[in-house]
Amino acid sequence: MLDQLEALRQKAVADLEASGDTAALNAWNATYLGRQDGALTAILRGLKDVPGDQRKIVGQRANAIKVELEELLAARRSALAAGELARALQAERIDVTLPGRAEPRGGLHPITQTIRDICAVFAEMGFHTVEGPEVETDYYNFQALNIPADHPARDMQDTFWIVPGQLLLRTQTSPNQIRIMEQTRPPVRAVVPGKVYRNEATDATHEAMFHQIEGLLIDKTTTMRDLRGCLERFAHAIFDPASKVRFRPSYFPFTEPSAEVDVTCIVCRGAGCRVCKYSGWVEIGGSGMVHPQVLRNVNYDPAVYRGFAFGIGVERIAMMRYGINEIRLFSQNDLRFLSQF
Ligand code: DAH
Repeated sequence: MLDQLEALRQKAVADLEASGDTAALNAWNATYLGRQDGALTAILRGLKDVPGDQRKIVGQRANAIKVELEELLAARRSALAAGELARALQAERIDVTLPGRAEPRGGLHPITQTIRDICAVFAEMGFHTVEGPEVETDYYNFQALNIPADHPARDMQDTFWIVPGQLLLRTQTSPNQIRIMEQTRPPVRAVVPGKVYRNEATDATHEAMFHQIEGLLIDKTTTMRDLRGCLERFAHAIFDPASKVRFRPSYFPFTEPSAEVDVTCIVCRGAGCRVCKYSGWVEIGGSGMVHPQVLRNVNYDPAVYRGFAFGIGVERIAMMRYGINEIRLFSQNDLRFLSQF
């Protein structure tokens, strides 16, 4: 009987050492000390059947073993807990001597940069920068600009309608000429940057959304020479002090006379290259003297006031400045492209 007890004790001690977590310790407790069917409990319970002379010796030894195993269990439990704590602390340790992780820095989109640079040049010439709505009415986008419903000029600007015939995504920044003049009296000097929309098939140089900057100057003695002077000043600041500006006769319903604006090709400086199709010139927008009917539409007296307007394409200018040959890069939000600016 005593031998049996000693063997049980040895096995219990060995098992305890092999138990590595709380679940194993609970199982061990049930196996040896469990009130229901613990091995040692069973022996203690069976003492009454042991012959009287042995009962005392076996009983004392069994109780001693029980106390010992309980103490060993308690010790093992706290050792495990301490180990877990140490591991957790180790895992959560922070090395305060490591250098910090730098946050990536954001930057301004190349179109935003170009718009700001252009507006800054015009600000030096006294032009305010203002903005207008991207959802426009037919009146501001077309009618007030001398483009009635049946005018063929509408075909040039395939329109995204919101309410057909009434509400649209503006096809040009020109409606802001009307908005500005309705709100102020001359002299007027303003530039209006912003997004415009046309229902066009996209390719390397066309997008359904792009940016324009509208310019408007109204005063009493304004001439086309003033227009030319302002555009030259702009070209010198944005492209090259040697840039030249060229007017080509054109037609816009809201200007008379009207001109297409070309600047010296920045890539070949006028010598001729693929970018300028070997002409030495690149078109950047349209311009002209504000049509008398447009002035009348905002209750400006065309006998007293005259002025010029222009609209330039921002993408075109950014593409020339940065040597980009694919307009869609601007709206694809690819960081490999954007982080270069
Ligand atoms: N709004 C015209 C377009 O998008 C460009 C333009 C031409 C603007 C002549 C003007 C202007 O202000 O005078 O095609």
